[in-house]
Amino acid sequence: MQVTVYNFREYDEKKYFDAYAEELGITLVTCPDAPTLDNVSLAKGSECIDILTSKMTPELIAALAQQGVRYITTRTIGYDHIDMKACKEHGITVGNAPYGPNGVADYTVMLLLMSIRKAKQILQRTNIQDYTLKGNLGRELKDMTVGIIGTGRIGKTVIQNLSGFGCKMIAYDLYESEEVQKLATYVSLEEIWSQADIISLHTPLTDDNYHLINAETIGKMKDGVVLINTARGPLVEAEALLAAIESGKIGAAGLDVVENEFGLYYYDRKNDVLDNRELALLRSYPNVTVTHHMAFYTDNCVKTVVEDSLRSCVCFVNGEKNPWQVS
Ligand code: NAI
Repeated sequence: MQVTVYNFREYDEKKYFDAYAEELGITLVTCPDAPTLDNVSLAKGSECIDILTSKMTPELIAALAQQGVRYITTRTIGYDHIDMKACKEHGITVGNAPYGPNGVADYTVMLLLMSIRKAKQILQRTNIQDYTLKGNLGRELKDMTVGIIGTGRIGKTVIQNLSGFGCKMIAYDLYESEEVQKLATYVSLEEIWSQADIISLHTPLTDDNYHLINAETIGKMKDGVVLINTARGPLVEAEALLAAIESGKIGAAGLDVVENEFGLYYYDRKNDVLDNRELALLRSYPNVTVTHHMAFYTDNCVKTVVEDSLRSCVCFVNGEKNPWQVS
């Protein structure tokens, strides 16, 4: 069987793709770029394609279906970049690769600590030999209340990670977990807004929570609240976020994801004039730490997503029970 792998990375994925393709008897067609209307022909002869977070529009999905594609596996947990309706219309099944939560959970705690200890501005000063203290005053986690929205695999692991810091933890999810209840108290969203000093997002992006953090909800938060987003950019309305940072309502933010990151993240765009003004502004603020959707990026994760995406193709083609199938 043949699988076309888009966004194929020589420097870290190749060794795993080669090893698992050999083990599973798969011939790989590889392409370093995201799938586009110009390179869909690379999918010819492949029932399955393997992608990353590039936007899968209805036009692209129709073109892939014409090449004979019947299964799309994404080497990511989230799959909101794929137009699921179009996939259904064209008889394409979708699978994801939910690697372990620890990489993202660890990174979340790092961004959280960087935000409350003003790490960005401290590092900027150190780099120019400005060794002053004034303006670098931090806060201690044990004195703070952390509100976790979404207590699935990652949110729960963040709570476990944070449990040693002595902070108060409150949580919100559509479904409550007994394991989480041992360490955090479930409350309503309204109580998260009014009580949390730090809010960390860990839900998938759905129609229901698009722009969950907006001018109205920010207005209900504590002054100087810290916002951490390692989930999905569109959970936060960019304009409202900028306004709240500029007014001081949001005291600091750690953002591994932003709205409209497609086409920017994972590309070298240093010589380009970019049209994402929100990102340019966010990067410029001393109290906002922006990273480019890196939280997942650990050795363990890369190996897992490569292995599981290929195994899911085998399950699909052989008509076996496919634990990675999401549609
Ligand atoms: P999960 O499916 O285990 O947990 C998600 C939780 O969110 C579930 O408990 C669910 O009930 C809850 N939820 C869904 N909609 C909700 C809503 N409207 N309000 C409140 N709770 C809601 O997913 P997991 O593995 O914990 O991942 C969470 C998200 O993290 C992913 O969907 C993805 O968007 C993001 N992510 C980001 C990465 C990065 O590199 N920055 C890497 C991996 C995931």
